[in-house]
Amino acid sequence: MAEVNVALIGYAFMGRAHSNAYRQVTPFFQPALRPRMKVLCGRDGAAVREAADRLGWEEAATDWREVVARKDIDLVDVSTPGDTHAEIAIAAARADKAVFCEKPLANTLREAEEMLRAVKKAGVTHMICHNYRRAPAVTFAKQLIDSGRLGEVRHFRGTYLQDWIVDADFPLVWRLQREKAGSGALGDLASHSIDLARFLVGEIVEVAGALETFIKERPLPDKPRKKGRVTVDDAAISLVRFAGGAIGTIEATRMAPGRKNYNRFEINGSEGSLAFDLERMNELEVFFRSDPGGVQGFRRILVTEAADHPFVKAWWPPGHIIGYEHTFTHTVYDLLEAMAAGKLPSPNFEDGVRNQKVLDAIVRAARSRRWVKV
Ligand SMILES: NC(=O)c1ccc[n+]([C@@H]2O[C@H](COP(=O)([O-])OP(=O)(O)OC[C@H]3O[C@@H](n4cnc5c(N)ncnc54)[C@H](O)[C@@H]3O)[C@@H](O)[C@H]2O)c1
Repeated sequence: MAEVNVALIGYAFMGRAHSNAYRQVTPFFQPALRPRMKVLCGRDGAAVREAADRLGWEEAATDWREVVARKDIDLVDVSTPGDTHAEIAIAAARADKAVFCEKPLANTLREAEEMLRAVKKAGVTHMICHNYRRAPAVTFAKQLIDSGRLGEVRHFRGTYLQDWIVDADFPLVWRLQREKAGSGALGDLASHSIDLARFLVGEIVEVAGALETFIKERPLPDKPRKKGRVTVDDAAISLVRFAGGAIGTIEATRMAPGRKNYNRFEINGSEGSLAFDLERMNELEVFFRSDPGGVQGFRRILVTEAADHPFVKAWWPPGHIIGYEHTFTHTVYDLLEAMAAGKLPSPNFEDGVRNQKVLDAIVRAARSRRWVKV
């Protein structure tokens, strides 16, 4: 089996999730290309060395520029905050490496477009990590929609709710600073709902929007007695129109007490409906009008049947459920298979740019308080 030498930049939340995916993908999926966990890169030498040992990387490094230029690296994985995505991804593409980048693709539409130009010019493989597409229930929902079971799709209702900044004393971390994160709940959470909407329903062509920052100042992480300004949205709401005629809503917030990672969508078509909730990610709720009268109603499909449900056959027998981390393993598997086949995986930087155009349009719509074309 041929190998792909991977360099991972960033080793905290997503760095751990991606490391786990590279470790699990070969034993469970036997991809045509096997990832070799070559270098982990961060900024603090001692901390990155400790993380490399713990997460299973051969080497640790502190200068991403040196790492992406190395001849023995084939794939660069960008798992850092948004302000570094463009610089790292463009340098990696210019060094002829495949690039796997976390979402949102960049902090601005311009940066995202530059990234797309760079990977196209270099002719390298590129992928963006919208991992929820590969929750088996979501992939199964896509199969149901594509096979026509829902009929003509009319509604998409996406909500992505969390509560981790509801406390006004929560510090001003990078995710609350526009220069680091680009935006708040919008880019962090709504970008996932937008990707699911595009994946399942189609292109979004027009949006209206509202953004709100409820807590405008927060304690500085290193000087808790001092406060700094929050420069991103706490909450984002959008009405959307799809190219195919459907309409939808997308709501994202980190200010919904009790909601931890409530990534939910419901889709209604002329012949039926389906609903997904990440916190019950092995299940899909479906309703079909064609079901016999008298027993019609929503039913809960446990999406673990190897014969019908994508990805699950690599894991456990039916009913032996899987979790959040598996979505990353599935994503990495498809990336490796695409690299082996010389094909472009999906979603890729084209999708990242289209997603960013929707994010950008929501910001413009919120500012102007008008509908805006994407
Ligand atoms: N796919 C998902 O579901 C998902 C979930 C969470 C975060 N994300 C995305 O992943 C990215 C990282 O988020 P996170 O939650 O892992 O953040 P994090 O704060 O947990 O980790 C960021 C990592 O990047 C490192 N880093 C920061 N600047 C760096 C630099 N200049 N050079 C090298 N390393 C640097 C930090 O040391 C840290 O290891 C963001 O783009 C975020 O939007 C995606």
